[in-house]
Amino acid sequence: MTEFLRLGVNIDHVATVRNARGSGFPDPVRAALLAADAGADGITAHLREDRRHITDDDIARLSDGLPIPLNLEMAMTDEMLAIALRHRPHAACIVPEKREERTTEGGLDATGLHNQLARFCDALTDAGIRVSLFIEPDPRQIEAALRLKVPVIELHTGLYCELEGEAQTAELRRISDAAALAAKNGIEVHAGHGLTFDNVVPIAAIPQLRELNIGHFLIGEAIFDGLGPVVRRMRNLMDQAR
Ligand code: PXP
Repeated sequence: MTEFLRLGVNIDHVATVRNARGSGFPDPVRAALLAADAGADGITAHLREDRRHITDDDIARLSDGLPIPLNLEMAMTDEMLAIALRHRPHAACIVPEKREERTTEGGLDATGLHNQLARFCDALTDAGIRVSLFIEPDPRQIEAALRLKVPVIELHTGLYCELEGEAQTAELRRISDAAALAAKNGIEVHAGHGLTFDNVVPIAAIPQLRELNIGHFLIGEAIFDGLGPVVRRMRNLMDQAR
């Protein structure tokens, strides 16, 4: 039987709108609570080095006040490691981060960065935080994740979301093969980036996936339909796909 697929709602862009005016609203913690009420299974927030959206104070408040697990997205820096160890979120997803990028552009090079990553994965794991690596759906990356003994990987769906037609079908197959390889080796598989109502179903139908993390589209759609209805609709699409 295909297992339940959790929905992690990324609330970064509620903070983007707030920060556009330097005011206190809209509050990402309020959005997180609303998303939880509407059926989100977890909340994801990316504390970027430049603090362009989520702030340290948001992470402190999210860590204290959520009825569902917090997944902290973080770059592999000592500053972020110290913050993760202070707040001890349920999970930490290590992502590559470049200052000039608009969003996380590619997956981590878990093969090339093995030695640096090992220190971060061990420190987070020792603190009881579930470590995840955000990687491309590439067998070499899965093998690197296995060597690092992480319990979770998140597969980057950004390219799948940008492509169309046969190229998109081929990328879907790459994601599905990567999910099967990781799951067969005991790694829990998540996926995310760029997912919308229009492209989520084939991804949600991949039986080995256990969680999708979705942000930008949901927060944008919430302007028109409200966050609760939008989260519920995404949840329904994911359920129908299983
Ligand atoms: N997963 C990871 C690791 C990400 O970095 C992001 C973007 O912050 C997402 C999921 C969500 O992507 P989107 O905002 O495009 O739904």
